[in-house]
Amino acid sequence: MARKKIALIGSGMIGGTLAHLAAKKEMGDIVLFDIAEGMPQGKALDLSQCGPIEGFDARITGSNDYADIAGADVVIVTAGVPRKPGMSRDDLLGINLKVMKAVGEGIKKNCPDAFVICITNPLDAMVWALREFSGLPHNKVVGMAGVLDSARFATFLAWEFDVSVKDVNAFVLGGHGDTMVPITSYTTINGIPVNDFAKIKGVSEGRIDEIVDRTRKGGGEIVGLLGNGSAYYAPATSAIAMAEAYLGDSKRILPCASFVEGKYGLDGLYVGVPTMIGAGGTEEVIEIELSDEEKSNLKVSTDAVEELLEACKGLDSSLA
Ligand code: LMR
Repeated sequence: MARKKIALIGSGMIGGTLAHLAAKKEMGDIVLFDIAEGMPQGKALDLSQCGPIEGFDARITGSNDYADIAGADVVIVTAGVPRKPGMSRDDLLGINLKVMKAVGEGIKKNCPDAFVICITNPLDAMVWALREFSGLPHNKVVGMAGVLDSARFATFLAWEFDVSVKDVNAFVLGGHGDTMVPITSYTTINGIPVNDFAKIKGVSEGRIDEIVDRTRKGGGEIVGLLGNGSAYYAPATSAIAMAEAYLGDSKRILPCASFVEGKYGLDGLYVGVPTMIGAGGTEEVIEIELSDEEKSNLKVSTDAVEELLEACKGLDSSLA
């Protein structure tokens, strides 16, 4: 079987972490792309020299030329600017939209058959813009956030209940902003609904609400702690899980920012929903039954995403 090719657009902290993870897992040969000269080449060289120590066999190269991503099977996009303390993800819209235009055109020209995973913020709007600029089919462009947000929710619940994180199946829907919707009704501790488990453990509803709130603000908490940048380990790990599902045709059901049309009352919007990922890309959006309160929270979140798309159209006339 031909070796797979993974193109990583952006060689910052997430790009470097992605390259390391993909190499360790021997997912294929890796091209680390950045417009900053020397940076992807330097990181690629450094990472390549981990191979003999860790025992992985992956060809890792750095490039400033989009032609080098030609024929990539998977493209993971982290290019753009992260927020700083005090900023919202939406404050990055103008600057990162321009970056998505260049990236989308690079993908369109060089690897139109790739599966593209976007991590750049504001996530849901950037996935949409990347899809528009690249012209790829909707099922081949997806945003990473739901896996990350659900992992944060799961981590906080595992700490609260003092149980293994392996037994927590947590679930977050909606846009990747502070209006995201952690869904407790579908969150379980090894099959036991989280609210029932909380009663068994004597954890109050108020405490679960606090964990939901911490999850919603999870990215900002890390931005505040780092002081000059945003999370990178868990975002990279999330995108790698999605890439593996695609390359392995695993049919995993992962919450991610997929194109939703005719489900959840949406008429063509990228937003976080449970999605089957396999060789066909995002093969199916799974529509789950929600309570009235969950539906109205999801509406607030999807309305916020729609507002951002309008702002994108105002900033770039080719999107209107
Ligand atoms: C995250 O959730 O960690 C990322 O979206 C980065 C950020 O700005 O919060």
